[in-house]
Amino acid sequence: MSNVQNDQLVIIDHGEGDEPLSTRKMNPLFSSILEARLARRQVLKGSAGAAALGFFGLGLAGCNSDSDDDDDEDDSTPPAELLGFSAVAVNSLDVITVPEGYSHQVLIPWGTPIMGGIAAFSPDNTGADQAGQIGSHHDGMHFYGIDGSSEDGLLVLNHEYVEPRFMHESAVGVALGSSGLPVFAGVRPADEVRKELNGHGVSVVRVIKGSDSQWKVQFDAMNRRITGLTPMELQGPVRGTDFVKTLYSPDGTMTRGTLNNCGNGYTPWNTYMAAEENWAGYFTNKGDNPREHSRYGVPSGATSTGRYAWELADGGADEFIRFDASIKGADATQDYRNEPVCFGWMVEIDPFAPESNPKKRTAMGRFGHEGVVFAPAEEGKPVVCYSGDDSRFEYIYKFVTADNFSAATSNGDMLDEGILYVAKFNDDGSGVWMPLVFGENGLDASNGFSSQADVLVNTRLAADFMGATPMDRPEWGAVDPANGDVYFTLTNNSARTDAQVNEANPRSANQHGHIIRWSETDGDQAATSFSWDIFLFGGDSGESGVANNIGYDPNGDKLTADNILSSPDGLWIDPDSRVWIQMDSGYDDPYGNCAMLVADPKTGVLKRFLIGPIDQEITGITMSPDQKTLFINVQHPGEGTSSANFAAGSFSSNWPDKTAGAYPRSATVVVWKDDGGVVGS
Ligand code: FEO
Ligand code: CA
Ligand code: CA
Ligand code: CA
Repeated sequence: MSNVQNDQLVIIDHGEGDEPLSTRKMNPLFSSILEARLARRQVLKGSAGAAALGFFGLGLAGCNSDSDDDDDEDDSTPPAELLGFSAVAVNSLDVITVPEGYSHQVLIPWGTPIMGGIAAFSPDNTGADQAGQIGSHHDGMHFYGIDGSSEDGLLVLNHEYVEPRFMHESAVGVALGSSGLPVFAGVRPADEVRKELNGHGVSVVRVIKGSDSQWKVQFDAMNRRITGLTPMELQGPVRGTDFVKTLYSPDGTMTRGTLNNCGNGYTPWNTYMAAEENWAGYFTNKGDNPREHSRYGVPSGATSTGRYAWELADGGADEFIRFDASIKGADATQDYRNEPVCFGWMVEIDPFAPESNPKKRTAMGRFGHEGVVFAPAEEGKPVVCYSGDDSRFEYIYKFVTADNFSAATSNGDMLDEGILYVAKFNDDGSGVWMPLVFGENGLDASNGFSSQADVLVNTRLAADFMGATPMDRPEWGAVDPANGDVYFTLTNNSARTDAQVNEANPRSANQHGHIIRWSETDGDQAATSFSWDIFLFGGDSGESGVANNIGYDPNGDKLTADNILSSPDGLWIDPDSRVWIQMDSGYDDPYGNCAMLVADPKTGVLKRFLIGPIDQEITGITMSPDQKTLFINVQHPGEGTSSANFAAGSFSSNWPDKTAGAYPRSATVVVWKDDGGVVGS
């Protein structure tokens, strides 16, 4: 295929990377919030300096020092330094940079075989090879120590998407951009489609630390690839309804594959949750787009294609043509009009049960799930988790189980019943969780909702109706184990206008993003109200800065050379309450390559810890139980390679193989402290 004539090649380029535009319309209730904010801003304009940013003194009640006090501590002595390392300086090198006194190792780059009999990575690997290798574009990740081990465990990680130009011999020498793909005479080679589907999904791989501190892949019966083709069960209120009946599953109980798995979660019962984020673009609907397609941005129109045009696979196999969701048959069991409704869920995977089908937990809602974070489970109380919808002006959600947690008996089935809430951030620093329950608050037939399954399938519309607060692209969340405070990254939002700012999203054309945090009323994670403040503003200007446990001071210290950052995305709070913040920024100068920083939420100290190679983002984070080994992912190195340079075989990054002309590959990076201490200490 590499000798194909140019006149047979049609290059489809959606040009959307992994961050498509939202299709939402502004909330009808938004205008009243806006009026209140505008009135307030008039006051702010009269005050000095950075206060004009629009945030002042909010949320003190929610995140104050009282809840952090350990009582036995003498408040007059300064606390021991939580972040004991020296910040690394910004750079734009094609390497991993870690602080002095730390070492690192590259592990499981894309294409690494994880089972016997599978070919080693090579650009001519087949679709079948890819099904036994680590997928591409590593993202959310969790380490499950075997029997509690910190040196032997299952590493489970997401593969968010693929870059076809780096996957196929047919692309060699062709001028393709990062989201371009080769189409030959109107079709895509079936094995290229198979390889791309198998490059997506989740890897489960056993990794073991050697006596030389180096980690290795161990072939094991639990090693597993879950891909865009793996059979999955639909669970919860949408299971078996007309919304998800397809030719593949006429009773609406099964579907194939999970796609665009961005962030992750890990449950109190030791399973893994993979989020389905920008799944809508993988489909096409050439007819009228129903609301369960259009509100999520499924491409429409007679000439539309899916992001990778899988529906054009040579030979027309059912598992490929399903990405065309146009009405073709007599009813929904005769075609794939409902295939897009089988996506947009949180998917639960039991890494220790390799024969088990992954389960899509529909009670947790359908949207562009960035990830999910569980609050620490308490015996006899509901399980609570949070999930952001990463698109411009989308929302933050919380799910509270109906059943109470029991360490002895609870499992994923408790995620099938509960209440999904959406957040409203009031301008006065208070907030409410609004339930998305059929039959309550107008979510009924008079407003176009027919059942709880309908509310869940159309989660975004239900949240619009309830008047939720449109956010600046909610990415990862994290819960501080010390006090239950919840943090969420709001990565950026270039589309927010002056007229659309609110106190929780106070910057128009928010270029560098911020981190919001809240505390649930009375410390009850299942509460229906909360108080919030802003923890951090990205950027290098006078608007930047980080809060401590007293709150954000607009006249306080700004970010410095040790910690300027843009577009916070990945987020995790470790057992000692270090807040790990990962960048996904397209900017270089003055931020350098995307980096990972660490904050102490009590003092507001923030330091840059790790810098990645060229044209990548740092995403995904987990540690061994003893906190002595850190795992992070480097995603899409070399993505910025221009189409002309790609054709010439000259890539902006050759990481991690580093030889001239080497294909850049996403990979996991293992980091440890040379003295064997806790990472970050
Ligand atoms: Fe896949 Fe919102 O990052
Ligand atoms: Ca990204
Ligand atoms: Ca992300
Ligand atoms: Ca991002």
